[in-house]
Amino acid sequence: MKKLVVALGNRSYPIYIGSGLLNQPELFTQHIKSRQVIVITNETIAPLYLDAVLKNLQGYIVEQLILPDGEQFKTLEFVSGIFDKLLTCKFSRNATLISLGGGVIGDMGGFAAACYQRGIAFLQIPTTLLAQVDSSVGGKTGVNHPLGKNMIGAFYQPQCVIADADVLDTLDDRQLAAGLAEVIKYGLIRDADFFDWLENNITALLARDKQALSFAIERSCINKAEIVSEDETETGIRATLNLGHTFGHAIETGAGYGVYLHGEAVAIGTCQAADLSRRKGWLNDADVERIINLFKKIGLPVTPPKEIDSERFLELMAVDKKNSDGQIRLILLKQIGTATLPVNINQELLGAALKTYGRT
Ligand code: NAD
Ligand code: GLY
Repeated sequence: MKKLVVALGNRSYPIYIGSGLLNQPELFTQHIKSRQVIVITNETIAPLYLDAVLKNLQGYIVEQLILPDGEQFKTLEFVSGIFDKLLTCKFSRNATLISLGGGVIGDMGGFAAACYQRGIAFLQIPTTLLAQVDSSVGGKTGVNHPLGKNMIGAFYQPQCVIADADVLDTLDDRQLAAGLAEVIKYGLIRDADFFDWLENNITALLARDKQALSFAIERSCINKAEIVSEDETETGIRATLNLGHTFGHAIETGAGYGVYLHGEAVAIGTCQAADLSRRKGWLNDADVERIINLFKKIGLPVTPPKEIDSERFLELMAVDKKNSDGQIRLILLKQIGTATLPVNINQELLGAALKTYGRT
């Protein structure tokens, strides 16, 4: 087992990465300071892993809440259902919430934990590749709004993250590919050697080679932990984690939540950001080709849906947390391995990119 640390002073916490971690009760119990514990999961993950998690909680007063599965349920309404459960069960302020699932359950459970009685402890047990390499680490929690993705939320750090690589065995290929989009992001924004490694090891990753997957999870978490430790609330470098996300969130919202997986939308958005970086004169044609080819090898989409035209894109992109005074700001690439901080984008350049990239 590898143990990394997100260094945030007295709110620092470990990320455990390895095999068989769901069968190690002490990993759980050392981070639970209460008798009351609630496990939040969904109807897909519950039959697979809920019992294994519950076995670690013998001797505690344990409740469970099984939510429907899907991005379209990542709403205030379903978080309110978590509050209903906690109140009905008379859970106190020292209770602990465990999020067992992918990014949707992690974000919702974390947000419920941040709000319930102004904050209760929570543990992240990420079960998708995307959640293990990104969403479970760093304390971004929240829900979607019909007008914008992740628009309601809070920064709220967990007590620990337990990333058991074995649970990825039951993840389908489409979800694995979507997770790889966020893995590639780290290579693009700050770790050129990792990007090279990903190009050379993509076949092993797609074949679910355990060693390759563990390396990719660990390297991603090292990058994420460093960024979050430096800039917890995204006043600077943390924004680089949003490479491709302004386009991606527009695609998710515009197509309807759940149509594109988050990682798929991010893959398209990253290609759009790479194309824009080329138009700015930063990336060359060969760099852009490398990026697009890597996504293609994984089977991820690389062009935006035809039904979201450039006007609709601009409308959707106007709702983004990086925007400032109504101005769209994007993370772009200076080169592979170096991202910009949010840059104001000339509307004509953006409009031209939206009209032409992937439209022929
Ligand atoms: P998800 O949570 O919807 O999970 C994907 C699918 O896989 C679901 O159907 C789920 O039930 C299923 N699943 C989960 N684990 C499984 C397993 N081990 N075996 C079989 N099936 C399993 O999606 P996701 O890709 O994990 O997360 C996407 C969400 O994360 C989005 O809402 C996105 O906004 C959010 N996100 C948050 C952050 C953050 O920093 N908080 C970062 C990136 C993404
Ligand atoms: N996934 C983006 C962030 O954690 O900041």
